Order: sequence, then structure tokens, then C-alpha cells
Amino acid sequence: MKLFITGGAGFIGSNYIRCRFKKFPADSILNYDLLTYAGNIQNLQDIENSDSDYSFVRGDICDAEKVRETLKKFGPDAVINFAAESHNSYSVVNPGVFFRTNVIGTQTLLECARKENIPRFHHISTCEVYGDMDLDEEKPFSENSPYRPRTVYNASKASADHAVRAYHNVYGLNATITVCSNNYGPYQFPEKLIPLFLTNIFRGKKIPLYKNSHNKREWLFVEDHCHAVDLVLEKGRPGQTYNVGSSIEKSVEDIAGALLKITSAPDSLKSYVEDRPGHDRRYLLDSSKIKKELGWQPVTGFDEGLAATVKWYRQNRLWWENVSKKSPVDETGW
Ligand SMILES: NC(=O)c1ccc[n+]([C@@H]2O[C@H](COP(=O)([O-])OP(=O)(O)OC[C@H]3O[C@@H](n4cnc5c(N)ncnc54)[C@H](O)[C@@H]3O)[C@@H](O)[C@H]2O)c1
Repeated sequence: MKLFITGGAGFIGSNYIRCRFKKFPADSILNYDLLTYAGNIQNLQDIENSDSDYSFVRGDICDAEKVRETLKKFGPDAVINFAAESHNSYSVVNPGVFFRTNVIGTQTLLECARKENIPRFHHISTCEVYGDMDLDEEKPFSENSPYRPRTVYNASKASADHAVRAYHNVYGLNATITVCSNNYGPYQFPEKLIPLFLTNIFRGKKIPLYKNSHNKREWLFVEDHCHAVDLVLEKGRPGQTYNVGSSIEKSVEDIAGALLKITSAPDSLKSYVEDRPGHDRRYLLDSSKIKKELGWQPVTGFDEGLAATVKWYRQNRLWWENVSKKSPVDETGW
């Protein structure tokens, strides 16, 4: 397949491109990415140096002219939109850029895909669009749950999902959405929980737990997410949304404990800081639709995925030391 991938220099996008070439070496992939602080072309150095049919264009998904020109030249079978501002904490201090990229950027891509008659459009969304859940709630979010976003990041992602559905309904664009839980794995920017804690531990620095450290997230190893995207791309029904989660829930306290244990670091590295404003307590997905309809199953257990992640960060210190310098927020500063 010929794939036009946006945001491929970020965490999930770069993992996706690597996984995709492993599975489908004859594919041709164009990575269209603005290279914000979160995008790093080094994430795909191995692919650049390989024989894979891979190309990179630096561009903004809000730039309709450039998107159309690139689509016209490349002529993809599908667009997959990973590009986004993705960090909740950053959205507290710079909300405008979230609505610009996540909403206007997605709509711009949709419009360009429609005008260029791109046969397939897939959009990456987040469990956070469904909003906050009680810590003791027993019913997870299904694809039919109402959208109740509460933060700038998840409101902008929710708006993007509505735009994707509108382009399917109004213009017949063959579009699908995956709504995914928290990902972890190699190449994740060290502003996100697991790599932030891990890189602080490696530096002998305190790890900042929000005071509500019993808040939970559902954790999925990034390669399991990549596999789900492939299945939806191949067999997903037009206009459908598929939840993608592992059912593995861990609190911030659990994650801190697991990382301190794996790295043999002392508990005294834990410090408690104010929660960022609007911090959601919990999200949990019912992923039975993608399992039943498309046969998806996550294959990486949490201990295995975490061990692989810790190993990668241990071996790639230069990578995370360089990228952390670009981090726009101080998690301890609320
Ligand atoms: N990380 C998670 O746990 C998670 C969970 C569920 C869904 N998602 C979604 O998955 C997608 C990828 O997330 P991620 O964690 O890889 O994010 P990331 O922040 O690591 O990467 C985002 C990429 O998008 C690029 N980008 C940003 N603005 C752009 C623009 N205007 N034009 C072109 N490129 C632009 C950046 O340069 C970067 O390479 C996002 O849509 C995010 O909302 C992430």
C-alpha cells in the first residue's frame, strides 16, 4: 500500500511506520510532519538508512496547499492521521495550538483527502474523548458512550472525531477512527508519565506524582496499537469507530512502584505535586467491538512491555537527554 502518514515523527507514528515496514516491506510510506518539539526525525533513522520506500516531507497539516500538493504528487491509497498536539499538561498553558492542529488541522486534512479523492482515511483518537470516569465505575466506555471531554486536549480531539464523522456522513469519505487508551513504549517523549518517571529515575531526580496518585489509566504497549490500526485500515467498516484498549489498569502509584522496582531505585525518589488543572481520574475502554469484528488482541503483557520500555530508555540515553531539552512544560509547576 501507499500510505500518507501524518505525525510519523512522533511516538506512535514512528512506531507505526517501523511496524508497518516490518509487516509489509513492499509498502511505500510518506511521512508528513511539522517536527514540533514532539516530532523527531531521528526516531526513524533506521528506516531512513534501510531499503524501505520511505520519504519525509516537513509540513503542517493546517497548510491546505502543501497537503494537497503532497497528496497529488504521492497519490496514496490511504491517509492515516497521527499528527496532533498530544500532551494534556501543555494544553493547559497553550490551548490555542491544540485547537489549531487537532481541530483545524484534521479538518484541513479531511478536506484535502476529499478533494484529492483519497480512497481511505484513518484517524487516531484517544479514550479521553469520553471524559472522566469514577474510580469504582464498573462499566467501561463503549463506542456508543457520549463524548464528555473535560480538558483542552480531549475537547480538541473530540472535535476532530466529530469532523471525521461529518466528512463520512456528508461527503461519503471512507473514514474510520480508532479511540485508543494510554500507550507506552520506545520513542515516547519524556513529558509523558512512564518516560518522565523513568528518565528522572535514571538521572537520580525526584519523580513527580500528582497528589491524586490513585488516578488510573489503561495501558497499551504501542505495537499492539499499531496492529489495531492495520486491522482497521484493512477491514474496518466505513464510518466506524473502534475502541482499542488492553483492559490493563494501573494507577500513577502502581506505575511509580513498578518503575522504581525494575530499576532498583529507592522509594524516596517519589515526590507529590499538585495535579494539573482538570486532571481526569480514570478512563477505561470496552474494546470488544474490534476484538469480535476484526479479531484484534493485544499480545504484550504489562510486565513484558514495561521491561522492553525500560531497556530501550536505558540503552538510548542520548536520545532522551536531547529531546527532553525541548519539553515545554514543568510538571511540578502547577
Ligand atoms: N500517546 C498516547 O498515549 C495516545 C493515546 C491515544 C491516542 N493518542 C493519539 O495518537 C496520536 C499520536 O500521539 P503521539 O503520542 O505519538 O504524539 P506525539 O506528540 O509524540 O507526536 C505528534 C506528532 O505530530 C506532529 N505534529 C504536531 N502538530 C503538527 C502539525 N500541525 N502538522 C503536522 N505534524 C504535526 C509532531 O511533530 C509529532 O511528530 C495523537 O493523535 C494522539 O492524540 C495518543
